[in-house]
Amino acid sequence: MKRYALRIGGEWTEPAGGTWFETRNPYTGQAWAEIPRSDARDVEQAVTTAHRTFSEGPWAEMSASQRGLLLHRLADLIERDAARLAAIEVQDNGKLLAEMSAQLAYIPLWFRYFGGLADKVQGTTLPLDKKGYFAFTRKEPLGVVAAITPWNSPLMLATWKIAPALAAGCTVVIKPSEFTSASTLEFAALFDEAGFPPGVINVVTGFGREVGAALVEHPLVRKISFTGSDVTGRTINEQAARHFKHTAMELGGKSPNIVFADADLDQAVFGAISGIFAATGQTCIAGSRLLVQDSIHDTFVERLLTVARTARMGDPMDPDTQVGPVTTPPQFEKVLEYIDIAKKEGATLLLGGERGEGWFVQPTIFGDVRNDMRIAQEEVFGPVLAILRFKDEAEALAIANDVRFGLAAAVWTSDIARALRMSDRLQAGTVWINSYRAVSYLAPFGGYKDSGLGRENGIEAIQEFLQSKTVWINSGAVAGNPFVIR
Ligand code: NAI
Ligand code: MG
Repeated sequence: MKRYALRIGGEWTEPAGGTWFETRNPYTGQAWAEIPRSDARDVEQAVTTAHRTFSEGPWAEMSASQRGLLLHRLADLIERDAARLAAIEVQDNGKLLAEMSAQLAYIPLWFRYFGGLADKVQGTTLPLDKKGYFAFTRKEPLGVVAAITPWNSPLMLATWKIAPALAAGCTVVIKPSEFTSASTLEFAALFDEAGFPPGVINVVTGFGREVGAALVEHPLVRKISFTGSDVTGRTINEQAARHFKHTAMELGGKSPNIVFADADLDQAVFGAISGIFAATGQTCIAGSRLLVQDSIHDTFVERLLTVARTARMGDPMDPDTQVGPVTTPPQFEKVLEYIDIAKKEGATLLLGGERGEGWFVQPTIFGDVRNDMRIAQEEVFGPVLAILRFKDEAEALAIANDVRFGLAAAVWTSDIARALRMSDRLQAGTVWINSYRAVSYLAPFGGYKDSGLGRENGIEAIQEFLQSKTVWINSGAVAGNPFVIR
């Protein structure tokens, strides 16, 4: 069995407590590697290393253009190692090889985009209202960033944080999920190979309450960029608030996928399927509430079931597999529990609803769901779809927005005016028209309401790792009464 070490200051480092825990392959259920169980001592070492690297030495003195070049070099190495990294993730996470290959082909573009953006960050000169002064702003990096990531897409979600953080000039300590730490450890070593000064990227692994909490508390961490559940996000945000740390929170969703009668129904069926069964439903943007207009409800559901029935569960390494296992045992239990809840609430089971072998759950569809049911309001994070019906646009909007989350939404219609009206009024950070599950390094991403704070991706993402400093220069103002404001 492979035994991993922590990555701190460009070195493989044994955990201070000298203990490891096993990580399992969700397809076989077998342990395949040992992951260091870090504690506050490892956090201390990682954060002080990241802080020293931020404050002094080559990284602190490097120009933004040089940082950008390093990010491009890193992108080259990810391209070189894409197949290796994809295979590790399939083994540890159970994601489909097809999905991981697509993600690893795309991840380098994040580093290229933010590498290019690094030296386009500019302060401003201020048109002052006072004579005899010149003033300008500088954009300065926040400092040490703690990136805390979940198990569903470890490398992609780490990339969304690391690429803008490094472009801004910050240093990073990453804490991947205890269920899927291997890929992040392997990934971190590529930064050193690319020529980043040691200590720019550091990885501590282990459990949320032990190592995650210590990282959030550490006084030298200035920003916490978190992706995961709203429950943990709330805890971290409260803890961070006590120290006035910056936070970005990318939390869950219960996203509405809304099909109007005038839509291209074949396209909408595929959109509904990719919204909930891709990645076994384990994505924050899952389109887990399908809203279908009354007049087409029955035919649409029939067509959806016809396609959904063909979804192939199996070995994630097999290119023909469409639905892989659930990634973690607690998640497996949670999905089954929600299937039970939906049945008890009176929803009609239309497809699936059973456990498969090992950690598999059948693609599951419930009809006759009311929006006040838990299956319509709570994030399942699995292959479980809830179908609701609506009469008209107004009712679709009311149902879509009547939920505490607001990460994403989709509208299927051939009426452009309706598409625009809906996109104006949907309370969600992303709205897709006649599409689902599209993301890009160019497109800001984040939540409304309980789906979180801050935006990742796009030009504005780099600002999340910067703060403004205003510099005043006296260019001839004469000293006046020192007891009166200038
Ligand atoms: P989680 O949100 O608890 O974990 C995410 C990350 O936070 C992990 O790295 C974890 O170790 C860390 N963490 C946990 N407690 C912490 C603490 N007190 N301080 C600092 N870091 C901490 O998610 P978990 O337990 O893996 O899954 C629980 C549920 O969350 C899932 O059933 C799913 O519904 C939801 N989830 C949602 C995600 C999303 O992207 N919206 C991603 C992962 C899970
Ligand atoms: Mg694992």
